[in-house]
Amino acid sequence: MDAYPVVAEVSSFLGTPADELDASLGAEKRAALRTAVGELNAKAATGDPAAFYGQQLLLSRLYGLSMQLPEGPSAEGSLALQEVLRLLEQATMAAEDAMLEPGILDAAPAEPAAFLSWLKKSARAHRVYKHPYYREFIRDRATADDLRNYVIQESVVDGRFDDLLALMQVGTGGAAKLEIAGNFWDEMGNGEPAEVHTHLFNQIFRVFDISAEEMERSLTANALLSGNLAVLLCRYRHLYAEAVGFLGMTEWLAPDRFVQVVHAWERLGLPDVGIVYHKLHITIDSRHAAGWFHNVVVPAAESERMRRAIARGTLWRLNSSARYLDERMPDPAVH
Ligand SMILES: [Fe+2]
Ligand SMILES: [Fe+2]
Repeated sequence: MDAYPVVAEVSSFLGTPADELDASLGAEKRAALRTAVGELNAKAATGDPAAFYGQQLLLSRLYGLSMQLPEGPSAEGSLALQEVLRLLEQATMAAEDAMLEPGILDAAPAEPAAFLSWLKKSARAHRVYKHPYYREFIRDRATADDLRNYVIQESVVDGRFDDLLALMQVGTGGAAKLEIAGNFWDEMGNGEPAEVHTHLFNQIFRVFDISAEEMERSLTANALLSGNLAVLLCRYRHLYAEAVGFLGMTEWLAPDRFVQVVHAWERLGLPDVGIVYHKLHITIDSRHAAGWFHNVVVPAAESERMRRAIARGTLWRLNSSARYLDERMPDPAVH
Protein backbone atom coordinates (compact mmCIF):
# COMPACT_ATOMS: atom_id res chain seq x y z
CA MET A 1 0.00 0.00 0.00
CA ASP A 2 2.95 2.33 0.61
CA ALA A 3 3.42 2.31 -3.14
CA TYR A 4 0.16 4.30 -3.41
CA PRO A 5 0.30 7.08 -0.79
CA VAL A 6 -2.94 8.57 -2.15
CA VAL A 7 -4.88 5.84 -0.29
CA ALA A 8 -3.55 6.90 3.12
CA GLU A 9 -3.73 10.59 2.21
CA VAL A 10 -7.40 10.52 1.18
CA SER A 11 -8.20 8.29 4.17
CA SER A 12 -6.73 10.96 6.46
CA PHE A 13 -9.33 13.45 5.17
CA LEU A 14 -12.40 11.44 6.19
CA GLY A 15 -12.78 12.96 9.66
CA THR A 16 -12.56 16.60 8.49
CA PRO A 17 -15.90 18.41 7.96
CA ALA A 18 -16.65 18.57 4.23
CA ASP A 19 -16.65 22.36 3.79
CA GLU A 20 -13.48 22.77 5.80
CA LEU A 21 -11.78 20.05 3.77
CA ASP A 22 -12.87 21.52 0.44
CA ALA A 23 -11.72 25.00 1.50
CA SER A 24 -8.30 23.63 2.46
CA LEU A 25 -7.74 21.77 -0.81
CA GLY A 26 -7.04 24.18 -3.65
CA ALA A 27 -7.71 23.50 -7.33
CA GLU A 28 -4.13 22.34 -7.82
CA LYS A 29 -4.30 19.87 -4.94
CA ARG A 30 -7.58 18.48 -6.22
CA ALA A 31 -6.07 18.01 -9.66
CA ALA A 32 -3.10 16.22 -8.08
CA LEU A 33 -5.46 13.90 -6.19
CA ARG A 34 -7.35 13.08 -9.39
CA THR A 35 -4.08 12.28 -11.12
CA ALA A 36 -2.92 10.04 -8.27
CA VAL A 37 -6.24 8.17 -8.16
CA GLY A 38 -6.16 7.85 -11.95
CA GLU A 39 -2.72 6.24 -11.69
CA LEU A 40 -3.95 3.90 -8.95
CA ASN A 41 -6.87 2.85 -11.17
CA ALA A 42 -4.61 2.37 -14.20
CA LYS A 43 -2.28 0.14 -12.18
CA ALA A 44 -5.20 -1.85 -10.76
CA ALA A 45 -6.46 -2.41 -14.30
CA THR A 46 -3.13 -4.03 -15.23
CA GLY A 47 -3.63 -6.59 -12.43
CA ASP A 48 -1.27 -5.01 -9.87
CA PRO A 49 -2.47 -6.58 -6.58
CA ALA A 50 -1.36 -3.71 -4.33
CA ALA A 51 -3.13 -1.16 -6.54
CA PHE A 52 -6.31 -3.26 -6.68
CA TYR A 53 -6.27 -3.58 -2.91
CA GLY A 54 -5.66 0.15 -2.40
CA GLN A 55 -8.41 1.01 -4.87
CA GLN A 56 -11.00 -1.18 -3.15
CA LEU A 57 -9.91 -0.22 0.37
CA LEU A 58 -10.23 3.47 -0.45
CA LEU A 59 -13.60 2.96 -2.13
CA SER A 60 -14.91 1.05 0.88
CA ARG A 61 -13.68 3.77 3.26
CA LEU A 62 -15.35 6.47 1.16
CA TYR A 63 -18.58 4.45 1.11
CA GLY A 64 -18.28 4.27 4.89
CA LEU A 65 -19.10 8.00 4.93
CA SER A 66 -22.58 7.30 3.58
CA MET A 67 -23.13 3.82 5.08
CA GLN A 68 -22.26 4.42 8.75
CA LEU A 69 -23.29 7.02 11.33
CA PRO A 70 -20.15 9.00 12.16
CA GLU A 71 -18.72 9.14 15.67
CA GLY A 72 -17.38 12.65 15.13
CA PRO A 73 -16.86 15.15 12.30
CA SER A 74 -17.29 13.63 8.83
CA ALA A 75 -16.18 14.63 5.34
CA GLU A 76 -19.46 13.31 3.90
CA GLY A 77 -20.55 15.66 1.10
CA SER A 78 -17.03 16.88 0.22
CA LEU A 79 -16.73 17.80 -3.46
CA ALA A 80 -13.07 16.81 -3.55
CA LEU A 81 -13.89 13.38 -2.16
CA GLN A 82 -16.79 13.01 -4.58
CA GLU A 83 -14.32 13.40 -7.47
CA VAL A 84 -12.11 10.68 -6.01
CA LEU A 85 -15.09 8.43 -5.31
CA ARG A 86 -16.40 8.79 -8.85
CA LEU A 87 -13.05 7.88 -10.39
CA LEU A 88 -12.88 4.76 -8.22
CA GLU A 89 -16.45 3.79 -9.13
CA GLN A 90 -15.87 4.26 -12.85
CA ALA A 91 -12.76 2.08 -12.75
CA THR A 92 -14.55 -0.60 -10.68
CA MET A 93 -17.50 -0.72 -13.09
CA ALA A 94 -15.25 -0.79 -16.16
CA ALA A 95 -13.32 -3.73 -14.68
CA GLU A 96 -16.52 -5.75 -14.09
CA ASP A 97 -17.83 -4.97 -17.58
CA ALA A 98 -14.50 -6.07 -19.05
CA MET A 99 -15.02 -9.51 -17.43
CA LEU A 100 -18.36 -10.08 -19.18
CA GLU A 101 -18.18 -12.61 -21.96
CA PRO A 102 -18.60 -10.64 -25.23
CA GLY A 103 -22.19 -10.73 -26.50
CA ILE A 104 -23.57 -12.46 -23.40
CA LEU A 105 -26.07 -9.68 -22.63
CA ASP A 106 -27.49 -10.04 -26.17
CA ALA A 107 -28.09 -13.76 -25.65
CA ALA A 108 -30.81 -13.29 -23.01
CA PRO A 109 -34.33 -14.25 -24.16
CA ALA A 110 -36.98 -11.50 -24.27
CA GLU A 111 -39.93 -13.33 -22.71
CA PRO A 112 -39.81 -12.72 -18.89
CA ALA A 113 -40.23 -16.34 -17.73
CA ALA A 114 -37.68 -17.54 -20.30
CA PHE A 115 -35.38 -14.72 -19.22
CA LEU A 116 -35.56 -15.92 -15.60
CA SER A 117 -34.79 -19.52 -16.66
CA TRP A 118 -31.84 -18.19 -18.65
CA LEU A 119 -30.51 -16.33 -15.59
CA LYS A 120 -30.69 -19.48 -13.49
CA LYS A 121 -29.20 -21.60 -16.24
CA SER A 122 -26.30 -19.17 -16.60
CA ALA A 123 -25.71 -19.38 -12.85
CA ARG A 124 -25.81 -23.19 -12.82
CA ALA A 125 -23.33 -23.32 -15.69
CA HIS A 126 -20.98 -20.84 -13.99
CA ARG A 127 -17.91 -22.17 -12.18
CA VAL A 128 -19.03 -20.26 -9.07
CA TYR A 129 -22.04 -22.58 -8.71
CA LYS A 130 -21.26 -25.21 -6.05
CA HIS A 131 -17.73 -23.86 -5.97
CA PRO A 132 -15.18 -26.22 -4.33
CA TYR A 133 -14.41 -23.54 -1.76
CA TYR A 134 -17.75 -24.37 -0.12
CA ARG A 135 -18.31 -27.89 -1.37
CA GLU A 136 -14.87 -29.21 -0.42
CA PHE A 137 -12.82 -26.78 1.59
CA ILE A 138 -15.37 -25.29 4.01
CA ARG A 139 -17.37 -28.49 4.30
CA ASP A 140 -14.61 -30.99 4.97
CA ARG A 141 -11.31 -29.27 5.65
CA ALA A 142 -11.72 -25.81 7.15
CA THR A 143 -10.43 -25.29 10.69
CA ALA A 144 -12.04 -22.98 13.26
CA ASP A 145 -9.52 -20.34 12.23
CA ASP A 146 -10.52 -20.71 8.58
CA LEU A 147 -14.17 -20.21 9.54
CA ARG A 148 -13.19 -17.18 11.56
CA ASN A 149 -11.49 -15.72 8.52
CA TYR A 150 -14.44 -16.76 6.35
CA VAL A 151 -16.98 -14.75 8.36
CA ILE A 152 -14.71 -11.70 8.36
CA GLN A 153 -14.68 -11.76 4.55
CA GLU A 154 -18.47 -12.29 4.39
CA SER A 155 -19.24 -9.36 6.69
CA VAL A 156 -19.13 -6.79 3.87
CA VAL A 157 -22.42 -8.11 2.45
CA ASP A 158 -24.10 -10.18 5.20
CA GLY A 159 -23.25 -7.67 7.91
CA ARG A 160 -25.36 -4.94 6.29
CA PHE A 161 -27.83 -6.67 4.00
CA ASP A 162 -30.69 -4.73 5.61
CA ASP A 163 -29.12 -1.39 4.70
CA LEU A 164 -28.51 -2.56 1.14
CA LEU A 165 -32.21 -3.45 0.80
CA ALA A 166 -33.22 -0.12 2.34
CA LEU A 167 -31.08 1.73 -0.20
CA MET A 168 -32.16 -0.22 -3.24
CA GLN A 169 -35.92 0.06 -2.59
CA VAL A 170 -36.01 3.88 -2.92
CA GLY A 171 -38.22 4.88 -5.86
CA THR A 172 -39.74 1.43 -6.42
CA GLY A 173 -43.46 0.70 -6.16
CA GLY A 174 -46.08 -2.04 -6.36
CA ALA A 175 -45.12 -5.71 -6.09
CA ALA A 176 -41.39 -4.97 -6.18
CA LYS A 177 -41.56 -2.56 -3.24
CA LEU A 178 -43.70 -5.01 -1.25
CA GLU A 179 -41.26 -7.84 -1.94
CA ILE A 180 -38.28 -5.74 -0.83
CA ALA A 181 -40.26 -4.58 2.22
CA GLY A 182 -41.13 -8.18 3.16
CA ASN A 183 -37.52 -9.20 2.72
CA PHE A 184 -36.42 -6.20 4.82
CA TRP A 185 -38.88 -7.10 7.58
CA ASP A 186 -37.41 -10.60 7.68
CA GLU A 187 -33.99 -8.93 8.04
CA MET A 188 -35.52 -7.06 11.02
CA GLY A 189 -36.42 -10.42 12.60
CA ASN A 190 -40.08 -9.58 11.94
CA GLY A 191 -39.89 -7.06 14.76
CA GLU A 192 -38.07 -9.30 17.25
CA PRO A 193 -34.82 -7.53 18.29
CA ALA A 194 -33.02 -10.78 19.13
CA GLU A 195 -33.82 -12.14 15.67
CA VAL A 196 -32.60 -9.22 13.58
CA HIS A 197 -30.31 -10.84 11.01
CA THR A 198 -27.40 -8.45 11.42
CA HIS A 199 -27.64 -9.06 15.18
CA LEU A 200 -27.51 -12.83 14.58
CA PHE A 201 -24.59 -12.39 12.19
CA ASN A 202 -22.74 -10.35 14.81
CA GLN A 203 -23.04 -13.26 17.27
CA ILE A 204 -20.43 -15.02 15.16
CA PHE A 205 -18.00 -12.21 15.82
CA ARG A 206 -18.61 -12.65 19.53
CA VAL A 207 -17.81 -16.37 19.24
CA PHE A 208 -14.57 -15.56 17.47
CA ASP A 209 -13.78 -12.32 19.28
CA ILE A 210 -13.30 -10.23 16.14
CA SER A 211 -12.93 -6.45 16.51
CA ALA A 212 -13.95 -3.84 13.92
CA GLU A 213 -10.30 -2.89 13.52
CA GLU A 214 -9.21 -6.48 12.85
CA MET A 215 -12.09 -6.77 10.42
CA GLU A 216 -10.97 -3.95 8.14
CA ARG A 217 -7.33 -4.98 8.33
CA SER A 218 -8.13 -8.60 7.34
CA LEU A 219 -10.43 -7.97 4.40
CA THR A 220 -8.92 -9.02 1.08
CA ALA A 221 -9.22 -6.91 -2.07
CA ASN A 222 -11.85 -9.25 -3.53
CA ALA A 223 -13.90 -9.23 -0.32
CA LEU A 224 -13.78 -5.42 -0.30
CA LEU A 225 -14.83 -5.47 -3.95
CA SER A 226 -17.89 -7.65 -3.18
CA GLY A 227 -19.05 -5.18 -0.56
CA ASN A 228 -18.28 -2.19 -2.77
CA LEU A 229 -20.20 -3.61 -5.73
CA ALA A 230 -23.24 -4.18 -3.52
CA VAL A 231 -23.15 -0.58 -2.22
CA LEU A 232 -22.46 0.84 -5.67
CA LEU A 233 -25.45 -0.90 -7.25
CA CYS A 234 -27.84 -0.20 -4.36
CA ARG A 235 -27.12 3.52 -3.96
CA TYR A 236 -27.68 4.66 -7.56
CA ARG A 237 -31.25 4.77 -8.89
CA HIS A 238 -30.06 4.27 -12.48
CA LEU A 239 -28.42 1.01 -11.38
CA TYR A 240 -31.57 -0.34 -9.70
CA ALA A 241 -31.96 -3.18 -12.19
CA GLU A 242 -28.33 -4.20 -11.75
CA ALA A 243 -28.97 -4.30 -7.98
CA VAL A 244 -32.00 -6.53 -8.60
CA GLY A 245 -29.78 -9.03 -10.42
CA PHE A 246 -26.89 -8.75 -7.98
CA LEU A 247 -28.88 -9.16 -4.75
CA GLY A 248 -31.26 -11.75 -6.24
CA MET A 249 -28.32 -13.95 -7.18
CA THR A 250 -26.77 -13.41 -3.74
CA GLU A 251 -29.95 -14.75 -2.10
CA TRP A 252 -30.25 -17.61 -4.56
CA LEU A 253 -26.69 -18.86 -4.02
CA ALA A 254 -26.76 -18.56 -0.22
CA PRO A 255 -28.70 -21.68 0.91
CA ASP A 256 -26.39 -24.30 -0.63
CA ARG A 257 -23.33 -22.39 0.58
CA PHE A 258 -24.69 -22.17 4.11
CA VAL A 259 -25.44 -25.90 4.23
CA GLN A 260 -21.67 -26.38 3.90
CA VAL A 261 -20.90 -23.77 6.56
CA VAL A 262 -23.32 -25.42 9.03
CA HIS A 263 -21.75 -28.80 8.25
CA ALA A 264 -18.30 -27.41 9.07
CA TRP A 265 -19.55 -25.69 12.20
CA GLU A 266 -21.00 -28.95 13.52
CA ARG A 267 -17.96 -30.97 12.46
CA LEU A 268 -15.81 -28.60 14.55
CA GLY A 269 -18.24 -28.53 17.50
CA LEU A 270 -18.31 -24.71 17.63
CA PRO A 271 -20.89 -22.90 19.87
CA ASP A 272 -24.48 -23.10 18.60
CA VAL A 273 -25.09 -19.38 19.03
CA GLY A 274 -22.70 -18.68 16.17
CA ILE A 275 -24.54 -20.76 13.59
CA VAL A 276 -28.15 -19.55 14.05
CA TYR A 277 -27.68 -17.02 11.24
CA HIS A 278 -26.54 -19.60 8.69
CA LYS A 279 -29.12 -22.22 9.66
CA LEU A 280 -31.91 -19.67 9.34
CA HIS A 281 -30.78 -18.58 5.89
CA ILE A 282 -30.78 -22.06 4.42
CA THR A 283 -34.57 -21.90 4.37
CA ILE A 284 -35.27 -18.19 4.42
CA ASP A 285 -33.05 -17.34 1.47
CA SER A 286 -34.62 -19.92 -0.81
CA ARG A 287 -37.93 -18.22 -0.05
CA HIS A 288 -36.36 -14.80 -0.56
CA ALA A 289 -34.86 -15.82 -3.89
CA ALA A 290 -38.17 -17.30 -5.12
CA GLY A 291 -40.13 -14.19 -4.08
CA TRP A 292 -37.49 -11.93 -5.59
CA PHE A 293 -37.51 -13.73 -8.91
CA HIS A 294 -41.30 -13.83 -9.10
CA ASN A 295 -42.17 -10.35 -7.82
CA VAL A 296 -39.15 -8.24 -8.73
CA VAL A 297 -37.29 -9.86 -11.64
CA VAL A 298 -40.14 -11.18 -13.79
CA PRO A 299 -42.28 -7.97 -13.76
CA ALA A 300 -39.20 -5.85 -14.52
CA ALA A 301 -38.15 -8.21 -17.30
CA GLU A 302 -40.90 -6.87 -19.59
CA SER A 303 -38.46 -4.18 -20.69
CA GLU A 304 -35.36 -4.75 -22.83
CA ARG A 305 -33.38 -2.11 -20.92
CA MET A 306 -34.22 -3.75 -17.58
CA ARG A 307 -33.40 -7.26 -18.82
CA ARG A 308 -29.94 -6.19 -19.94
CA ALA A 309 -29.28 -4.44 -16.64
CA ILE A 310 -30.58 -7.31 -14.49
CA ALA A 311 -28.39 -9.73 -16.46
CA ARG A 312 -25.43 -7.38 -16.07
CA GLY A 313 -25.86 -7.20 -12.28
CA THR A 314 -26.36 -10.96 -12.06
CA LEU A 315 -23.17 -11.65 -14.02
CA TRP A 316 -21.20 -9.12 -11.99
CA ARG A 317 -22.22 -11.08 -8.90
CA LEU A 318 -21.38 -14.49 -10.40
CA ASN A 319 -18.01 -13.35 -11.76
CA SER A 320 -16.89 -11.38 -8.71
CA SER A 321 -17.99 -14.14 -6.35
CA ALA A 322 -16.05 -16.72 -8.41
CA ARG A 323 -12.84 -14.66 -8.30
CA TYR A 324 -13.30 -14.18 -4.58
CA LEU A 325 -13.83 -17.90 -3.91
CA ASP A 326 -10.91 -18.90 -6.18
CA GLU A 327 -8.68 -16.64 -4.14
CA ARG A 328 -9.94 -18.13 -0.88
CA MET A 329 -9.06 -21.70 -1.89
CA PRO A 330 -6.02 -22.60 0.20
CA ASP A 331 -4.47 -24.94 -2.34
CA PRO A 332 -4.77 -24.09 -6.03
CA ALA A 333 -4.08 -27.73 -6.93
CA VAL A 334 -7.48 -28.92 -5.74
CA HIS A 335 -9.51 -27.20 -8.46
FE1 LIG B 1 -30.94 -12.21 6.09
FE1 LIG C 1 -32.34 -13.13 2.46
